[in-house]
Amino acid sequence: MKAYVVNQWLKGPEDLTLSTNVPVPEPKEGELQIQVKAVGLNFFDTLMIQGRYQIKPPFPFIPGGEFAGIVLKSTVADFKAGDRVFGSAASFAEVITAPYRNVLPMPSSFTFEQAAGLYITYPTSYAGLVLRANLKAGEYCLIHAAAGGVGIAAVQIAKALGATVIATAGSKEKLEVAKKFGADFAINYRDENWTAQVKKVTNGHGADVVYDPVGLIEESTKCTAWNGRLLVIGFAKGQIEKLPLNRLLLKNISAVGLHWGAYTKNEPERIPEVWKALFDLFESGKLNPALYENIYSLATLPRGLEAINARESYAKVVARFDQHDSKI
Ligand SMILES: NC(=O)c1ccc[n+]([C@@H]2O[C@H](COP(=O)([O-])OP(=O)(O)OC[C@H]3O[C@@H](n4cnc5c(N)ncnc54)[C@H](OP(=O)(O)O)[C@@H]3O)[C@@H](O)[C@H]2O)c1
Repeated sequence: MKAYVVNQWLKGPEDLTLSTNVPVPEPKEGELQIQVKAVGLNFFDTLMIQGRYQIKPPFPFIPGGEFAGIVLKSTVADFKAGDRVFGSAASFAEVITAPYRNVLPMPSSFTFEQAAGLYITYPTSYAGLVLRANLKAGEYCLIHAAAGGVGIAAVQIAKALGATVIATAGSKEKLEVAKKFGADFAINYRDENWTAQVKKVTNGHGADVVYDPVGLIEESTKCTAWNGRLLVIGFAKGQIEKLPLNRLLLKNISAVGLHWGAYTKNEPERIPEVWKALFDLFESGKLNPALYENIYSLATLPRGLEAINARESYAKVVARFDQHDSKI
């Protein structure tokens, strides 16, 4: 089969090469063997091949984080050959194995491309907004980098929960994407006065919840409402932000973090709860996976990673592995 195999740390996606004749992996007890149909691409895939990610697999390794595909072999009762599934595993290969606990059945109406990028973004945004920030219908929710992977999921979830959504992004095109997926207001955070614009569209009230995957918490306190909640999701800007705590005191603000990946270890009982709520929203049609307009292939997958790194892409970037790429 074909797969991207990393034998040494790489400069970037341009150095990824597709190997042929990679042995097809066999599932161990508790694992599934899956034919990958599509993969979700993430910024951390680039960090991983560069040796800059917190997880540094031993060489040689197959990179990748998210996938959708078809079960070829199952060692557990919960899945059988032929099931359409999505989940998390080293996925830049035509056939992979994955622990069954990292795999879920695909929502019935979704394509493989739509399902490929669900596993991280949607539960992150749902758990952040619901479990941590306690977002309520009727509240103002400010979502930064709203056209990005987790941001666009947050826009849809906040709307589905009945909030008024104020989206920020760094370009006119990305603001349009956020609006298309439900944002009520869209503000370019490259404008110097963006916090004043948030105050204006909320009629002076400010944002009740701030969803921040970028590193804009301190600036956001200028337009946070009394009793507001600041939700720390990530630091796409590249620096870990520091916050003067008087900013919290002045307006009764709470700051909370969310580390979705750590729920497996710390609060596993919450995971099915979050997925149940998300599946209900998927089936009701209220959440539609938002995809970048360029769909990559197995061969052009590195270009998808480059688009993410260059900040050109929006929503979820995926690569589809179809019959034109190769046969197993
Ligand atoms: N806490 C968790 O459990 C969790 C889970 C998943 C992801 N995350 C984190 O959330 C963050 C966003 O992830 P994502 O998948 O949404 O990424 P993404 O799709 O690449 O989106 C990130 C967005 O951040 C904005 N941005 C602002 N400054 C940037 C900069 N200097 N460089 C690059 N982008 C910049 C860009 O939007 P504009 O061009 O519009 O500014 C970009 O669209 C990452 O830091 C990730 O590690 C956290």
